Amino acid sequence: HKSVGILGIGSYVPEQVVTNFDLEQRLDTSDKWIVERTGIRERRVVKKGEATSVLATKAAEKALQDANVSPEDIDLIIVGTVTPDMQFPSVACLVQENIKAVRAAAFDLTAVCSGFIYGLVTGSSFIKAGTYKKVLVIGAETLSTITDWKDRNTAILFGDGAGAVVLGEVAPGYGILGVDLGAEGTGGHLLKVPAGGSRMPTTMETISQGLHFTHMDGNEVFKFAVRTMGETINKALENAQLSAGDVKYLIPHQANFRIIQSAAKRLGLPMEQVVVNVDKYGNTSAASIPIALDEGVKSGRVKAGDIIAIAGFGGGLTWGAGIIRW
Ligand code: ACO
Repeated sequence: HKSVGILGIGSYVPEQVVTNFDLEQRLDTSDKWIVERTGIRERRVVKKGEATSVLATKAAEKALQDANVSPEDIDLIIVGTVTPDMQFPSVACLVQENIKAVRAAAFDLTAVCSGFIYGLVTGSSFIKAGTYKKVLVIGAETLSTITDWKDRNTAILFGDGAGAVVLGEVAPGYGILGVDLGAEGTGGHLLKVPAGGSRMPTTMETISQGLHFTHMDGNEVFKFAVRTMGETINKALENAQLSAGDVKYLIPHQANFRIIQSAAKRLGLPMEQVVVNVDKYGNTSAASIPIALDEGVKSGRVKAGDIIAIAGFGGGLTWGAGIIRW
């Protein structure tokens, strides 16, 4: 059977930086508290009109260039996002138009912070099945647009950005070796945007109550994340018939430095073998893993032949992991 892997990768973050010190001016919080509890120092935030598709397009163009694949060769575009430009058309269709991937099918996928891994598994399955040859998978978010900047429980955590990969067939033994996906709908209430959908369409009242913003039970999500990260990586390793000792780098979802630390500890990996950039970008949801992976690769840390583990968790609740030989 075919080996499927990442042929090229790219990422993009908006230029505007919002530091913890900026947040101190607007909220009852401090740089010290935020750094100690989360590891975040600053995040990128879009300017008005800089929609998710704009970030997604820039990341996609870089990934195509890196892969040396032209847009006409893309068969399918999948975008993991919970902050689309609008309810429809999908971000994937907007990107398809922007990059002129005229032959590509396109759709968005909702798995919140696990969106990139869900997209990677979905896209690679199409290639393994022989349906498509080249798939563009993007994680792109502007969480700043669904964040209540007056709520210190959430405003300190999130940032905007996008990351993209081109998937295709690779040499035997390389690429995606094992994966794991999961969901726990019973925990959906722990992390949600209550209004703006069919259950609670937007009204003046929902807006005045801030129900179009992200609501989160931080403590419960934290416990869920710590439990899930270790479990999902181990399942993906089992699926790949490998063990934690084979992993050269862990590229985790960047939500909170303490969650990343505990995942590394469970795997027995020293922090030098973990790619961390939560300090610079905060939690960019579906974009965080491809942005971190891009950094890991472009900085020369992740080298050809290395075995890496990617893993994330998020609203839904959802989670997922992948083991990749680079
Ligand atoms: N600044 C200062 N103080 C604060 C702040 C803040 N921004 N936020 C909360 N506090 C206070 C609380 O009121 C509380 O005070 P009290 O002890 O007097 O009641 C105290 O700090 C401790 O609060 P906790 O909520 O217990 O702090 P905790 O250590 O759990 O950290 C945090 C909170 C950072 C939110 C943590 O729980 C977390 O990271 N959870 C996971 C969140 C997450 O990853 N969400 C995204 C999931 S991915 C996705 O799908 C988008």
